[in-house]
Amino acid sequence: MRKLFDETRINRLALNNRFVRSATWEGMCEEDGRPTARLAAYYANLARGGAGLIITGYAFIRPDGKQLPGQMGIHDDSFAPPMRDLTAAVHGAGGKICLQMVHAGGQTSAKVIGTRPVAPSTLQTPQFPEEPAELSLQEIGNMVRLFGDAAARAKECDFDAVQLHAAHGYLINQFLSPLTNRRTDAYGGSIENRCRFLLECYASVRKGWVMNFRCWSSSMATITLPGG
Ligand SMILES: Cc1cc2nc3c(=O)[nH]c(=O)nc-3n(C[C@H](O)[C@H](O)[C@H](O)COP(=O)(O)O)c2cc1C
Repeated sequence: MRKLFDETRINRLALNNRFVRSATWEGMCEEDGRPTARLAAYYANLARGGAGLIITGYAFIRPDGKQLPGQMGIHDDSFAPPMRDLTAAVHGAGGKICLQMVHAGGQTSAKVIGTRPVAPSTLQTPQFPEEPAELSLQEIGNMVRLFGDAAARAKECDFDAVQLHAAHGYLINQFLSPLTNRRTDAYGGSIENRCRFLLECYASVRKGWVMNFRCWSSSMATITLPGG
C-alpha cells in the first residue's frame, strides 16, 4: 500500500512524499504583485517542514485580475529575479513548487484594480456588487493568450508545475456557471460553450509551458500540469 511519506510522481515530476500544500493566498507580495524575500523564506520553511509539493497562492495573470492585497502577480517579466529566488529557495530546501494562475473576473473591485472589473456577463456577484464589463470576443482571445504567457513565464522562472484556478467564482468559473454566464455567443449557453474558455486556456497554458511558446511578450475544478 502507498503511504503518505512514500516518494511519488505526477508524470515527470518527482516528489519526496504525497503531502501537497493547497494553494493559499499569503498576502506577502508587493502592491504590484512582485514576490518578496519574506514569501520565499515562508515557502522554504514549508518545504523544510516536509511539504512535498507547494502550490502557491493564486497569482493574477493581468493586473485587473487581482483580488486581494499582497497577492502575487505573474504578468510581468521584470518579476523574474525575485520569482527565481523564490523557486530556488524551495528547491534548496528539497521541495517542489507549482504556480497557481488566476484572473479574478468580476470578483474584485475598481478600488483594488483601478478599472472596472471584467466578466463573461454584466452580472454582479454577492460579495462584489460592482457591475462588471462584459468581455468581447477579442478580449476573451487576449485573456486566453495571457494565461499561456503566464505559464511560459512560470517555466522560465523554474516553477515545477502550474495550476489553473478554475474554481471559487473567479473568471474561468464564471464562464463555467450559468449563474454568471449569460452569453449568447460561442462561450455561453450549452455546457460545451461554457467550457470553451477553460479548454482554450488549458490549451494555451500547455503551449506556454510545454513548448515555451509566447503568443506575445509583455513587458476542484483545477488542472495541474506537472513539470518536464
Ligand atoms: C486564507 C486562505 C487563502 C486561500 N487561498 C487560496 C488560493 O489562493 N487558491 C485556492 O485555490 N484556494 C485557496 N484557498 C482554499 C484552500 O486552498 C483550501 O482549499 C481550503 O482552505 C480548504 O482546505 P481544507 O479542506 O484542507 O480545509 C484559501 C483558503 C484560505 C483559508
